[in-house]
Amino acid sequence: MIETPKHIQDLKSYKPGKPIPEIVQEFGLGRTAILWNNENNFGAAPKALEAIQNASANSFLYPDPACLQLRGDIAALVGRKTDNIIVGNGSESVFNYILQAYFTGDDELLTSEGTFVAIYIWAKAHNVPVVKCPLTKEYGFDLEGILQRIGPKTKAVYLSNPNNPSGAMITRDELIQFIERVPQEVMVLVDEAYFEYAQDLTEAYPDSTRLDYPNLITLRTFSKAYGIAGIRIGYGVGTPELIAPLMKVKLTFEPSNLAQAAAIGALTDEEFLEKTVANNTRGLRYFYDAFSEMGLNYIPSFGNFVMIDFETADRAQALFEALMRKGVFVRQLPAFGLPHCIRITIGTPEENEWCVEKLREVL
Ligand SMILES: Cc1ncc(COP(=O)(O)O)c(C=O)c1O
Repeated sequence: MIETPKHIQDLKSYKPGKPIPEIVQEFGLGRTAILWNNENNFGAAPKALEAIQNASANSFLYPDPACLQLRGDIAALVGRKTDNIIVGNGSESVFNYILQAYFTGDDELLTSEGTFVAIYIWAKAHNVPVVKCPLTKEYGFDLEGILQRIGPKTKAVYLSNPNNPSGAMITRDELIQFIERVPQEVMVLVDEAYFEYAQDLTEAYPDSTRLDYPNLITLRTFSKAYGIAGIRIGYGVGTPELIAPLMKVKLTFEPSNLAQAAAIGALTDEEFLEKTVANNTRGLRYFYDAFSEMGLNYIPSFGNFVMIDFETADRAQALFEALMRKGVFVRQLPAFGLPHCIRITIGTPEENEWCVEKLREVL
């Protein structure tokens, strides 16, 4: 018998929920708002789709393994050089390269409770122990608490800025002070999956790709504001010394031709990006007004989603189910360690209104 290592046995298998068409049929839903995965409900950036069309004829060729054009375009965007950039099948893939290239033996990943659930899963899949510091009362990263937990086994610290699912943000001053206090042999990973949204919301939000520290890697994605989550493409930014080992473990032909083309196209789609970001900033304000009126305890967010604290897991669960029966799909958060909370993605204006209307009904 082939033995499965203990850490893989302990991983929970991914259990997909019921497909949306089945739920629609079961509840006889005429209209839906899909607000559970922080996707861009305006769809994919049109210039990304155009680029895919143009690239598709070359599908018989292997992709450029060095991803030179895309890395060059990203380098230009963030004011760095090609050697500072790595791309992968989504930023979760770049996170995997980091686990693969840098963690050995007893090395630990230090992060927070109540952050992006995939981080816990991928660390476990690589047999990397995760040390978790509780979130602050305001559902933000407790940077002081994290600093105190850095020990001889800490290889890297993971911060999600803004944090998924709470939406809380680390300011530029806080981030710089934090990095300066982290020993240089400990890597700081700053996940900026919601960068484009956060940047539009406050000037205090840091662009960590512009910070030049020898132990800093920034993760970004095309899955959110650029609307190509299904294509799978994301990137990492760091010093050439930090990026080179990641290039060694990257699967040779990842990402695909089409994904590289889509990202190159997406980067030129300023109009789509502006429309998306403006809609998000408006949508957040719209949700805040409506939630305040309903007396809901929401957490101010710097992403394309808002988290609401319902105090008990039972209340959150009941609300999730009641909304689903009315065609509004939101996210429950037990896997994130926040079973008493619900996260709602900002949709199109029509979806947001529909969501508020149904929320009023079920409350
Ligand atoms: C904080 C954070 N990082 C990364 C991702 C995933 O990005 P990608 O689709 O590029 O793997 C998400 C998606 O929800 C996220 O919330």
